Amino acid sequence: MSPVSAEAATDTVAAKRAYFHPGSGRVERLLAHFHQIRDFTNSLCAGLEPEDYVVQSIPDVSPTKWHLAHTTWFFETFILKKFSPGYRAEIPEYAYLFNSYYNAAGDMHRRDLRGLISRPTVREAQRYRASIDSHIDNLLSGADEKLLDEIEPILVLGIHHEQQHQELLITDIKHVFAQNPLYPVFRERKTDGAGVKTIPMHFLDFEETVIAIGHDGRGFAYDNEGPRHRTLLRPFSLASRPVTNGEYMAFIEDDGYLRPEFWLSLGWMTVNEQRWQAPLYWANHERAWWNFTLSGFRPVDESEPVTHVSYFEADAYANWAGARLPTEFEWERAALDCPIEGNFVESESFHPVSVAVVSAALADKPLQNRRLDQIFGDVWEWTRSAYSPYPGYRAVPGALGEYNGKFMCNQYVLRGGSCATSRSHIRRTYRNFFQPEKRWQFTGIRLARDPQ
Ligand SMILES: [Fe+2]
Repeated sequence: MSPVSAEAATDTVAAKRAYFHPGSGRVERLLAHFHQIRDFTNSLCAGLEPEDYVVQSIPDVSPTKWHLAHTTWFFETFILKKFSPGYRAEIPEYAYLFNSYYNAAGDMHRRDLRGLISRPTVREAQRYRASIDSHIDNLLSGADEKLLDEIEPILVLGIHHEQQHQELLITDIKHVFAQNPLYPVFRERKTDGAGVKTIPMHFLDFEETVIAIGHDGRGFAYDNEGPRHRTLLRPFSLASRPVTNGEYMAFIEDDGYLRPEFWLSLGWMTVNEQRWQAPLYWANHERAWWNFTLSGFRPVDESEPVTHVSYFEADAYANWAGARLPTEFEWERAALDCPIEGNFVESESFHPVSVAVVSAALADKPLQNRRLDQIFGDVWEWTRSAYSPYPGYRAVPGALGEYNGKFMCNQYVLRGGSCATSRSHIRRTYRNFFQPEKRWQFTGIRLARDPQ
């Protein structure tokens, strides 16, 4: 089989679309959005070989093939099976294989065994995608306004769900490739930071205020971003940029991983059990730090934001630095003043960009555009806020109520998006969340302080 033809599948869909005459501008807009996101998933797979699609390196990581099929299952289950009269699944067993965690949608295959599934093949998974896309085309093109009113919120949720899986696809293939002593290259990347000086971080002060936290209801948001509510913030300061690899190295060299005084008890246990000595993907060769990136194995660039650190490491680093992590509410207050721009997946670097390069590029910008460099994109920023419901939050009844609400336990909130997040997916109110020991996402550190 040729490099699994994401392109071929895309071509088929594109050819079908050429014959498609939607009845209204609304349908055209929805389908254009739908196909743009579906096509981007396929484009991320360009260059992958069939063998790459099936590996599950740890239970957290899902094979690329599973992401392709699971995102498709979402549209099939929550739209076609519900709104398309007489719809019959071509392969009913996919409902079991590609359900992730929706108990109300039926039984599911075990998450940690996804890498043992050689069938359906990659090609069959791509056919499944093309087939469901075609059914969605047909359903929407024949839908009246009333039906569209019902379908649109779920279609848009499915689109954002797929964007979340695009990020996971990238971080998962990074973990898969990192296991391989040949260190495969996902995408070539130029490094352009040589010779640019890193400017020391400084802290910006924010006054005490009562602020409205959460999404205001304009445009799409996940249910966990609401209800919008008032929160008292005490005065705080926030670092002007993320912590760099060079700064993190100083923590390592000061025996940060060997000194329990910086660590939460659970973090200290984890460090010792897992024998962590550095961020995930770092390796020490001949007294120099190297790290695995999606463009191969490279020397650690001291001017890049540190990434692939757990909450425990972020918290320990902050303690060592005489600072703390921000709360998610402080972060949201600070982000109000910042444009949502930065190094997102659209830039196709699949890696955080050097703070020195960003600083040099922003030097001529008006001050209000650069109060907090790289607050969006590059690396998700750990906050010290537990992922819990906002006051008044209730999950919606049914399977889609399982999307966020049932995970509000034992996880911490991250903000701002990463170099693997889509620009069109992130918001100032967006709450990502992971358990405190997880390191395989592009997770980093921005420091906060109480008044000195
Ligand atoms: Fe999912």
